[in-house]
Amino acid sequence: MATKFVLLFLFFFCCCFHGYLAEDPDLYFNWRVSYSTRSPFGVDKKVIVINDQLPRPLLNATTNNVLHVNVFNNLDEPFLLTWNGVQMRKNSWNDGVRGTNCPIPAGKNWTYVMQVKDQIGSFFYFPSLAFQMAAGGYGPIRINNRIIIPIPFSLPYDDVDILIADWYNMDYKRMRNWLDLGFPLSRPDGILINGSPPGKATFNFKPGATYRLRISNVGIKTSLNFRIQGHKMRLVEIEGSYTIKQYYDSLDIHVGQSYSVLVTADQSPAVSYYVVASARFTDFDLYGYANLNYGGSSKSPSGPIPQGPPRDDINFSMEQASSIRWDLKVGAARPNPQGSYHYGQIKIARTIVLQNDQAAIGNKKRRFTINNVSFKYKKTPLKLADYFKIPGAFNTTLVPDVPVDRVPILGTPVIDAHYKDFIEIIFQNIESSVQSWHLDGYNFFVAGMEKGKWNSNLRSTYNMVDAIFRSTVQVYPNSWTAILLALDNMGTWNIRSQDSERRYLGQEIYMRVEGDDPDHISPRDEMPFSPSLLLCGKSNISS
Ligand SMILES: *[C@@H]1O[C@H](CO)[C@@H](O)[C@H](O)[C@H]1NC(C)=O
Ligand SMILES: *[C@@H]1O[C@H](CO)[C@@H](O)[C@H](O)[C@H]1NC(C)=O
Ligand SMILES: *[C@@H]1O[C@H](CO)[C@@H](O)[C@H](O)[C@H]1NC(C)=O
Ligand SMILES: *[C@@H]1O[C@H](CO)[C@@H](O)[C@H](O)[C@H]1NC(C)=O
Ligand SMILES: *[C@@H]1O[C@H](CO)[C@@H](O)[C@H](O)[C@H]1NC(C)=O
Repeated sequence: MATKFVLLFLFFFCCCFHGYLAEDPDLYFNWRVSYSTRSPFGVDKKVIVINDQLPRPLLNATTNNVLHVNVFNNLDEPFLLTWNGVQMRKNSWNDGVRGTNCPIPAGKNWTYVMQVKDQIGSFFYFPSLAFQMAAGGYGPIRINNRIIIPIPFSLPYDDVDILIADWYNMDYKRMRNWLDLGFPLSRPDGILINGSPPGKATFNFKPGATYRLRISNVGIKTSLNFRIQGHKMRLVEIEGSYTIKQYYDSLDIHVGQSYSVLVTADQSPAVSYYVVASARFTDFDLYGYANLNYGGSSKSPSGPIPQGPPRDDINFSMEQASSIRWDLKVGAARPNPQGSYHYGQIKIARTIVLQNDQAAIGNKKRRFTINNVSFKYKKTPLKLADYFKIPGAFNTTLVPDVPVDRVPILGTPVIDAHYKDFIEIIFQNIESSVQSWHLDGYNFFVAGMEKGKWNSNLRSTYNMVDAIFRSTVQVYPNSWTAILLALDNMGTWNIRSQDSERRYLGQEIYMRVEGDDPDHISPRDEMPFSPSLLLCGKSNISS
């Protein structure tokens, strides 16, 4: 009787306190982060590897799993990983960006604990601090469907993670000094496919089989066009949303974006094919390629590299973007169809316009801005400063909802947002380069994008039915992109330029999503502070 009571109590405790169900097993990972040397273009570079791999290891999970990633930092400086596109529901505490987490000190380890709740899809992780991403440290994330929710296409023969990225030979610490001095990055030295320079990586396909390629652009700043000679790609998923299945000859993948395509090995097995990633919207030509072989052959492709769209053809890219649609009829992480959420019928409670720019600030150093404010970190992460009620750690009125005329400044702005509001964010690009914006904690509907300046009349052009629901979106030169999102994930969330140069120099901000009573938060809305979190700055002495 007593035992039964205890068991019942334990069951109750586990389910209700942690909010995890018995069918959501825990997965444990031990990751050792260290330096190694790679020289893809003949120049030795100090890189960051995880368990001696770059890119990888794969973080492979299933919807609702609880992941425990124990990260051992064997670098000579602080380190954090962030989980690009993983929604971290109710759990910005483990998001791994400098505004939410204290860095893992050199020589120490710390364990991320996160549930991949109500999510499926293809994503990646990367080092979020101090331009370390330029040294690698990235790898793929898969969140697989639960068995009870079949994927909306025939089971592929295999899944293949493909990480594409621009690459600089320069040491990452020198790059960051260079940026600190106010100099721009030069053009990259090459494009890597899964860490390999042109011609050095090979994918082997079984003749007749269909593969799911999960492609992410994990680069520093270069948009890439991805294509496979002689093969069409059938787009099926973007950042956790199933798409209407359509065939593409090539796909533009901007920094931070992830796409799943199906590719069938239906061509002649006698020859080899180019798998190409080429620079887009740059003033130089640059490409990487791998080999696609059938049946274990070791041939190399011959002849010229297949051409993609013209390097600066924005119309092509914009048209492709608007052709990508959310599949309303299929389920993803939940059995009900994606389209059962009718976002087009919800009233927009608030509009926030975020305009990117660059300016010389202070002692004339080049910085990147949002609404003429360049983000500057303080020692205490915003999330912890908030929890410990440390005054002056950030400013919630510094960046108003629309850009105002003001001299560019440095600051630590936070956008205060109301839990459960449905809001619109306009990314207004007044520069002549392509931007890529990422939002942590959320997927959003990409309702519209057009050239020129946004105004509210342009809402009539929005796709209010089947816009893609994703977490990273491009904004074309002198254009705008409008996103819609339901603020259903409480916490403090990073909104960042996914361009590492811009982010390093201040082009990011945080959004604090809070309910009416921030002093009494139900664990159903947000996970409580955990004593196992790292402390630093002023949070360290307050504890
Ligand atoms: C990933 O996890 C799924 C579900 O447990 C499993 O079926 C699959 O084999 C795993 N894939 C890899 C590459 O580990
Ligand atoms: C560090 O790693 C050890 C050994 O795996 C583990 O027992 C400990 O919990 C880890 N510490 C943290 C803070 O995660
Ligand atoms: C791109 O589209 C615009 C209209 O949006 C048109 O004026 C322009 O001529 C097009 N450019 C090219 C190169 O096709
Ligand atoms: C926040 O920024 C506003 C606008 O620049 C300024 O008036 C205010 O004094 C700042 N508040 C704090 C606490 O720094
Ligand atoms: C922002 O600062 C720039 C100078 O870098 C100035 O030209 C521009 O008018 C300012 N923009 C706004 C919206 O205040």
